[in-house]
Formats: sequence, structure tokens, C-alpha cells
Amino acid sequence: MILPIYLYGQPVLRKPTEEIAPSPELTQFIADMYETLAQAEGVGLAAPQVGKAWRLFIVDGTDLEEDYPECKNFKRTFINPEIIETSEETCSYSEGCLSLPGINENVVRPVSVRMRFQDENFEEHEESFTGFCARIIQHEYDHLEAHVFTDRISPIRKTFVRNKLLAIAKGKVGARYKYRRN
Ligand code: NI
Repeated sequence: MILPIYLYGQPVLRKPTEEIAPSPELTQFIADMYETLAQAEGVGLAAPQVGKAWRLFIVDGTDLEEDYPECKNFKRTFINPEIIETSEETCSYSEGCLSLPGINENVVRPVSVRMRFQDENFEEHEESFTGFCARIIQHEYDHLEAHVFTDRISPIRKTFVRNKLLAIAKGKVGARYKYRRN
């Protein structure tokens, strides 16, 4: 089932998220998240973006393999993830977000990240990611910390996007996928 994506201004995007445990409903929810992500043509989706304040996000960068070889087979479920290490080296890259339609801004982030997380079978993993994979993971992880990427842009750029964010929050901007707004 395709879920509506909650747009900027929806309180769930700013709520603290809770650790999760296995349940039959969760299995279906994750399947729905993958279907929703594919339909919206995104590369990552966090549970708060579909209305659940849970520590869960999914990524699918497999379509980007040609431009970003590190994304080969990069389709993964991250449950109760923790960032355990980040590289000192950073890079700037233009990000967008399904909850913030029409906004793209440069964000500086570490180039690599080491994660501890559980997969959809609740098996523990510890793994390092770099390049575009690390970028997607850090963006999605931010959602679990009640952040969106525009929280991290420069003060000058924040003033530029303020009206766009307000327009989304006030329900004046929609998206090409199924969404929920105020
Ligand atoms: Ni996002």
C-alpha cells in the first residue's frame, strides 16, 4: 500500500522517535515504505515521513549505480540505527527531501559514516558507508533526530528558503506523489 508522505509542517517530523521491536505489523509497514519510496522515486524514506515516530528508515540507491558505483546493491532497512563514527573529511552536496518538495540546498556532511543497526529480520550489523550512500544515510538519520536538511544549511540560505518552507507548511505547495499536509 502506498502511504502518504508527510510534508514539512506536520508535527511528526519534529517528534522524538522511539526504538522499535519486531511485530507482524512492522513487516507490512516496511513493505509499504518500499512501495511508497519507489512510487515517489526517492532514494530514502524515514518512518516519521510516513507518520510514525519510530527509529526506522529505508534506502534504495540502486538506480544511481551508474553515477555512484558505491550505490550498487544499496537497498537496505535500518532499524534502531546509531551513527558510531563519522569521517573528519566532509563534502557539500545538493540535497532534497520528499517532505520538502521543491527545495534543494547544499549541505555539508562527513564523507563516510559507520553505522550500527538492525535489518528487517532484527539481525545486528555494523558497517561503514561512503560517498552517496553515506549522504543518504545521514539525511535519513536526521529525520530520526527530528531534523530536516534545511536545519543544516547556512544562515543566508535559510533566509532564502524560509518562504518556501512556510508555503509547504501552510499547505500551498503539493507534490507529485501521495502526501499529507496541513
Ligand atoms: Ni528527507
